[in-house]
Amino acid sequence: MENKEEILKNLKEKLDSVTNLNSLNDVKTEFLGKKGSITALSSIIGSLPVEEKKTFGAELNKLKAEATSLLESKREEIETKILNEKLANEKIDISLPSTKLPVGAPNILEHLIEEVEEVFMSMGYDVVDGPEIEEDKYNFELLNIPKGHPARDAQDTFYIEDETILLRSQTSPVQVRTMLSTDGNTPVRMICPGKTYRRDADDATHSHQFMQIEGLLVDKNISLSDLKGTFDVIAKKLFGEDCRTRFRPSYYQFTEPSVETDISCFKCHGEGCSLCKNTGWITVSGAGMVHPNVLRNCGYDPNVWSGFAFGFGAERLAMLKYGINDIRTFYQTDLRESATFDRKEA
Ligand code: DAH
Repeated sequence: MENKEEILKNLKEKLDSVTNLNSLNDVKTEFLGKKGSITALSSIIGSLPVEEKKTFGAELNKLKAEATSLLESKREEIETKILNEKLANEKIDISLPSTKLPVGAPNILEHLIEEVEEVFMSMGYDVVDGPEIEEDKYNFELLNIPKGHPARDAQDTFYIEDETILLRSQTSPVQVRTMLSTDGNTPVRMICPGKTYRRDADDATHSHQFMQIEGLLVDKNISLSDLKGTFDVIAKKLFGEDCRTRFRPSYYQFTEPSVETDISCFKCHGEGCSLCKNTGWITVSGAGMVHPNVLRNCGYDPNVWSGFAFGFGAERLAMLKYGINDIRTFYQTDLRESATFDRKEA
């Protein structure tokens, strides 16, 4: 059978362009159907001499088998392709559409406190905590503010039990607690951010509850210049490298000398504007050298140890920094006001 190879070659070529089952069937019919070219070869058998019949028959069967196998593998190929396409198209998405959650942002106050904490921690300060329900002795007495002292008037607060237990009016009692927790012979370096309370009627600049950030450093040979240097570094880190600082004399019962710490106005850079009330300066904290009585009350020998302390009003700092003019903003639920979404510094 001379044209066997040719028939197979022809079949292969046709199969190459087959892409679906219908055209595959057409090709099958063309070769193996009743009138197919391979089937047609059977009719030759009758006319062949007997000795050739057998070999021709065998050859023909082989040809049929090869053609069938080519057609079959093409069928498999097409069927696999169809199945894969079906699987890909029928993929079921079992996930539920998610609920869109609004992206949060930290409360401004929280944000500011964290910023201050980071600056102080980078200078080796610990961040400590103290109770908001406090004893009179820590809030006043041991801070050199005895009963009946007029300085208590400005810090009237909420009393819980017969004038001995109160809501702390300042974070300064944490100074006392921290010093008392040592053996009186150990340097201290801490800041304490926390809530404080006063018997104030709420308005744009007063709140019955607000946040302070207390600081205390106790060591040997500490002087006011250490306080000035520390304050200068902090102010520059928080308000920018061109921030200048100054001290003004003040009075606190637990520090001697006492100062008010000012920074040059970050809005007008000292020129004078509405933010700094045309002075060029903004007061940001009270501070001073820890009073010898306080050191003594807390187990430190004032002849050996000295230190400085300071107290920032956190809301005041945030109000200045972010141009907020009502302290109640921090405690209201309007997130456009109280969160740091896209807030620009003032
Ligand atoms: N506790 C003071 C207040 O609430 C603020 C303060 C002033 C804290 C001077 C200090 C300090 O540690 O040294 O008004």
